[in-house]
Amino acid sequence: MSTVLVIYAHPQSDKESSTKALYNHFIKAYKISHPDDKVIEHNVSEYMPFPLNKIAISIYNKSMARQSFNADEERFKEARQKWIDEFVQADKYVFVNPMYNLFIPAKMKSYIDIVMQVPDTFHYTDAGIPEGNLHNKKAIHIQANGGNYHGSNGAPDASSLDLGHQYIGTILHIMGVDDYQGVFAEGMDHDPQNAEKILNQAFEKAEEAGKKF
Ligand SMILES: Cc1cc2nc3c(=O)[nH]c(=O)nc-3n(C[C@H](O)[C@H](O)[C@H](O)COP(=O)(O)O)c2cc1C
Repeated sequence: MSTVLVIYAHPQSDKESSTKALYNHFIKAYKISHPDDKVIEHNVSEYMPFPLNKIAISIYNKSMARQSFNADEERFKEARQKWIDEFVQADKYVFVNPMYNLFIPAKMKSYIDIVMQVPDTFHYTDAGIPEGNLHNKKAIHIQANGGNYHGSNGAPDASSLDLGHQYIGTILHIMGVDDYQGVFAEGMDHDPQNAEKILNQAFEKAEEAGKKF
Protein backbone atom coordinates (compact mmCIF):
# COMPACT_ATOMS: atom_id res chain seq x y z
CA MET A 1 0.00 0.00 0.00
CA SER A 2 1.30 3.46 -0.93
CA THR A 3 0.58 6.79 0.68
CA VAL A 4 -0.27 9.56 -1.76
CA LEU A 5 0.07 13.15 -0.59
CA VAL A 6 -1.94 15.72 -2.55
CA ILE A 7 -1.00 19.38 -2.28
CA TYR A 8 -3.88 21.36 -3.72
CA ALA A 9 -3.70 25.14 -4.19
CA HIS A 10 -6.53 27.20 -5.65
CA PRO A 11 -7.81 30.41 -4.04
CA GLN A 12 -11.38 29.52 -5.08
CA SER A 13 -11.24 25.87 -4.18
CA ASP A 14 -14.92 25.87 -3.15
CA LYS A 15 -15.93 26.56 -6.79
CA GLU A 16 -15.85 24.39 -9.88
CA SER A 17 -12.74 25.09 -11.93
CA SER A 18 -10.60 23.55 -14.63
CA THR A 19 -7.96 22.71 -12.02
CA LYS A 20 -10.47 20.94 -9.80
CA ALA A 21 -12.06 19.04 -12.71
CA LEU A 22 -8.64 17.93 -14.00
CA TYR A 23 -7.64 16.71 -10.55
CA ASN A 24 -10.96 14.93 -10.01
CA HIS A 25 -10.46 12.94 -13.22
CA PHE A 26 -6.94 12.02 -12.13
CA ILE A 27 -7.76 10.98 -8.57
CA LYS A 28 -10.91 9.06 -9.50
CA ALA A 29 -8.91 6.94 -11.96
CA TYR A 30 -6.11 6.60 -9.41
CA LYS A 31 -8.41 5.34 -6.68
CA ILE A 32 -10.03 2.78 -8.99
CA SER A 33 -6.67 1.33 -10.00
CA HIS A 34 -5.06 1.62 -6.54
CA PRO A 35 -7.97 0.82 -4.18
CA ASP A 36 -5.76 0.04 -1.17
CA ASP A 37 -3.69 3.22 -1.24
CA LYS A 38 -4.09 5.98 1.29
CA VAL A 39 -4.74 9.44 -0.17
CA ILE A 40 -4.07 12.49 2.03
CA GLU A 41 -5.29 15.82 0.63
CA HIS A 42 -3.97 19.19 1.80
CA ASN A 43 -5.82 22.23 0.54
CA VAL A 44 -3.05 24.73 1.22
CA SER A 45 -5.10 27.66 -0.08
CA GLU A 46 -7.61 27.02 2.70
CA TYR A 47 -5.13 26.17 5.44
CA MET A 48 -1.53 27.34 5.56
CA PRO A 49 -0.45 27.47 9.22
CA PHE A 50 3.33 27.63 8.70
CA PRO A 51 4.19 30.42 6.26
CA LEU A 52 7.75 31.70 5.98
CA ASN A 53 7.03 34.45 8.53
CA LYS A 54 8.97 36.17 11.31
CA ILE A 55 8.92 33.06 13.52
CA ALA A 56 9.95 30.71 10.70
CA ILE A 57 12.91 32.91 9.73
CA SER A 58 13.97 33.26 13.34
CA ILE A 59 13.92 29.44 13.68
CA TYR A 60 16.02 29.19 10.52
CA ASN A 61 18.59 31.72 11.72
CA LYS A 62 18.77 30.27 15.23
CA SER A 63 19.22 26.75 13.82
CA MET A 64 22.15 27.98 11.72
CA ALA A 65 23.66 29.73 14.75
CA ARG A 66 22.86 26.73 17.02
CA GLN A 67 20.92 28.97 19.39
CA SER A 68 17.94 27.89 21.50
CA PHE A 69 14.36 28.72 20.56
CA ASN A 70 11.76 30.68 22.54
CA ALA A 71 8.36 29.17 23.44
CA ASP A 72 6.55 30.48 20.31
CA GLU A 73 9.31 29.11 18.09
CA GLU A 74 9.26 25.72 19.84
CA ARG A 75 5.47 25.48 19.31
CA PHE A 76 5.70 26.49 15.66
CA LYS A 77 8.60 24.11 15.01
CA GLU A 78 6.90 21.15 16.67
CA ALA A 79 3.60 21.60 14.81
CA ARG A 80 5.38 22.19 11.48
CA GLN A 81 7.47 19.07 11.96
CA LYS A 82 4.31 16.93 11.59
CA TRP A 83 3.86 18.29 8.06
CA ILE A 84 7.53 17.65 7.25
CA ASP A 85 7.34 14.08 8.60
CA GLU A 86 4.18 13.45 6.60
CA PHE A 87 5.99 14.59 3.44
CA VAL A 88 9.02 12.40 4.19
CA GLN A 89 6.79 9.38 4.83
CA ALA A 90 4.62 9.72 1.69
CA ASP A 91 5.42 7.56 -1.33
CA LYS A 92 3.86 9.72 -4.04
CA TYR A 93 3.22 13.45 -4.41
CA VAL A 94 0.48 15.17 -6.40
CA PHE A 95 0.81 18.93 -6.83
CA VAL A 96 -2.38 20.57 -8.15
CA ASN A 97 -2.78 24.22 -9.10
CA PRO A 98 -3.76 26.79 -11.74
CA MET A 99 -0.88 28.71 -13.34
CA TYR A 100 -0.62 32.30 -12.11
CA ASN A 101 1.83 34.59 -13.88
CA LEU A 102 3.88 31.66 -15.12
CA PHE A 103 4.18 30.28 -11.61
CA ILE A 104 2.42 28.35 -8.84
CA PRO A 105 0.02 30.09 -6.39
CA ALA A 106 1.77 31.65 -3.39
CA LYS A 107 0.29 29.14 -0.94
CA MET A 108 1.86 26.27 -2.83
CA LYS A 109 5.20 28.06 -2.61
CA SER A 110 4.55 28.33 1.17
CA TYR A 111 4.01 24.57 1.33
CA ILE A 112 7.32 23.96 -0.44
CA ASP A 113 8.98 26.31 2.07
CA ILE A 114 7.70 24.03 4.86
CA VAL A 115 9.02 20.76 3.47
CA MET A 116 12.29 22.07 2.02
CA GLN A 117 14.18 21.39 5.24
CA VAL A 118 17.67 20.32 6.23
CA PRO A 119 18.15 17.65 7.55
CA ASP A 120 14.74 16.10 6.75
CA THR A 121 14.36 16.27 2.99
CA PHE A 122 17.86 17.23 1.89
CA HIS A 123 21.36 17.99 3.17
CA TYR A 124 24.44 19.78 1.93
CA THR A 125 27.50 17.81 0.79
CA ASP A 126 30.98 18.73 2.04
CA ALA A 127 31.27 20.83 -1.10
CA GLY A 128 28.15 22.83 -0.15
CA ILE A 129 25.92 21.28 -2.79
CA PRO A 130 22.32 20.33 -1.85
CA GLU A 131 21.60 16.59 -2.09
CA GLY A 132 18.32 14.73 -1.61
CA ASN A 133 17.32 12.47 1.26
CA LEU A 134 14.16 11.09 -0.37
CA HIS A 135 14.41 7.94 -2.45
CA ASN A 136 12.06 5.69 -4.46
CA LYS A 137 9.30 8.29 -4.64
CA LYS A 138 7.41 9.78 -7.54
CA ALA A 139 5.52 12.98 -8.26
CA ILE A 140 3.03 14.46 -10.68
CA HIS A 141 2.10 18.08 -11.33
CA ILE A 142 -1.50 18.70 -12.40
CA GLN A 143 -2.05 22.20 -13.71
CA ALA A 144 -4.60 24.28 -15.62
CA ASN A 145 -3.16 27.15 -17.63
CA GLY A 146 -4.92 29.54 -19.99
CA GLY A 147 -2.22 29.62 -22.67
CA ASN A 148 -0.26 26.84 -24.38
CA TYR A 149 3.15 25.97 -22.96
CA HIS A 150 3.55 22.23 -23.37
CA GLY A 151 2.93 21.85 -27.08
CA SER A 152 -0.79 21.10 -26.79
CA ASN A 153 -3.36 22.10 -29.43
CA GLY A 154 -0.75 22.28 -32.19
CA ALA A 155 1.12 25.12 -30.45
CA PRO A 156 4.95 25.09 -30.39
CA ASP A 157 6.74 24.02 -27.24
CA ALA A 158 7.06 26.94 -24.79
CA SER A 159 7.63 24.82 -21.70
CA SER A 160 10.62 26.92 -20.60
CA LEU A 161 8.07 29.62 -19.70
CA ASP A 162 6.23 27.32 -17.27
CA LEU A 163 8.34 28.32 -14.30
CA GLY A 164 6.03 26.65 -11.79
CA HIS A 165 6.35 23.21 -13.38
CA GLN A 166 10.14 23.61 -13.58
CA TYR A 167 10.35 24.91 -10.03
CA ILE A 168 8.45 21.97 -8.51
CA GLY A 169 10.63 19.59 -10.57
CA THR A 170 13.84 21.29 -9.43
CA ILE A 171 12.81 21.33 -5.77
CA LEU A 172 11.85 17.64 -5.96
CA HIS A 173 15.14 16.84 -7.68
CA ILE A 174 17.06 18.52 -4.86
CA MET A 175 15.09 16.41 -2.39
CA GLY A 176 15.94 13.26 -4.37
CA VAL A 177 12.69 12.77 -6.32
CA ASP A 178 13.41 12.49 -10.05
CA ASP A 179 10.36 10.54 -11.23
CA TYR A 180 8.32 13.62 -12.12
CA GLN A 181 5.71 14.26 -14.79
CA GLY A 182 3.05 16.82 -15.64
CA VAL A 183 -0.55 16.74 -16.84
CA PHE A 184 -1.84 20.02 -18.19
CA ALA A 185 -5.19 21.39 -19.26
CA GLU A 186 -3.99 24.26 -21.36
CA GLY A 187 -5.05 26.79 -23.96
CA MET A 188 -8.70 27.19 -22.85
CA ASP A 189 -8.37 30.96 -22.38
CA HIS A 190 -6.48 31.36 -25.64
CA ASP A 191 -9.14 29.46 -27.59
CA PRO A 192 -12.39 29.64 -25.58
CA GLN A 193 -14.52 28.30 -28.43
CA ASN A 194 -12.67 25.01 -28.14
CA ALA A 195 -12.36 25.04 -24.35
CA GLU A 196 -14.69 22.10 -23.84
CA LYS A 197 -12.83 19.96 -26.39
CA ILE A 198 -9.46 20.95 -24.90
CA LEU A 199 -10.63 20.09 -21.40
CA ASN A 200 -12.04 16.73 -22.44
CA GLN A 201 -8.72 15.81 -24.04
CA ALA A 202 -6.90 16.87 -20.89
CA PHE A 203 -9.30 14.82 -18.73
CA GLU A 204 -8.44 11.73 -20.77
CA LYS A 205 -4.74 12.34 -20.16
CA ALA A 206 -5.38 12.87 -16.44
CA GLU A 207 -7.30 9.57 -16.23
CA GLU A 208 -4.53 7.73 -18.07
CA ALA A 209 -1.95 9.25 -15.72
CA GLY A 210 -4.09 8.37 -12.70
CA LYS A 211 -4.30 4.72 -13.73
CA LYS A 212 -0.53 4.42 -14.14
CA PHE A 213 0.77 6.67 -11.34
C1 LIG B 1 -3.89 36.13 -11.62
C2 LIG B 1 -3.89 35.18 -12.78
C3 LIG B 1 -2.73 35.00 -13.49
C4 LIG B 1 -2.72 34.11 -14.57
N1 LIG B 1 -1.54 33.90 -15.24
C5 LIG B 1 -1.51 33.05 -16.28
C6 LIG B 1 -0.30 32.81 -16.99
O1 LIG B 1 0.75 33.32 -16.68
N2 LIG B 1 -0.34 31.96 -18.04
C7 LIG B 1 -1.49 31.32 -18.41
O2 LIG B 1 -1.45 30.54 -19.35
N3 LIG B 1 -2.64 31.51 -17.75
C8 LIG B 1 -2.69 32.36 -16.70
N4 LIG B 1 -3.85 32.57 -16.02
C9 LIG B 1 -5.04 31.84 -16.46
C10 LIG B 1 -5.30 30.58 -15.65
O3 LIG B 1 -4.14 29.81 -15.45
C11 LIG B 1 -6.33 29.73 -16.38
O4 LIG B 1 -7.50 30.48 -16.59
C12 LIG B 1 -6.63 28.45 -15.65
O5 LIG B 1 -7.42 27.65 -16.47
C13 LIG B 1 -7.37 28.76 -14.36
O6 LIG B 1 -7.79 27.56 -13.76
P1 LIG B 1 -9.15 27.41 -12.95
O7 LIG B 1 -10.27 27.28 -13.97
O8 LIG B 1 -8.96 26.19 -12.15
O9 LIG B 1 -9.30 28.65 -12.10
C14 LIG B 1 -3.90 33.43 -14.94
C15 LIG B 1 -5.07 33.63 -14.20
C16 LIG B 1 -5.06 34.48 -13.12
C17 LIG B 1 -6.32 34.63 -12.31
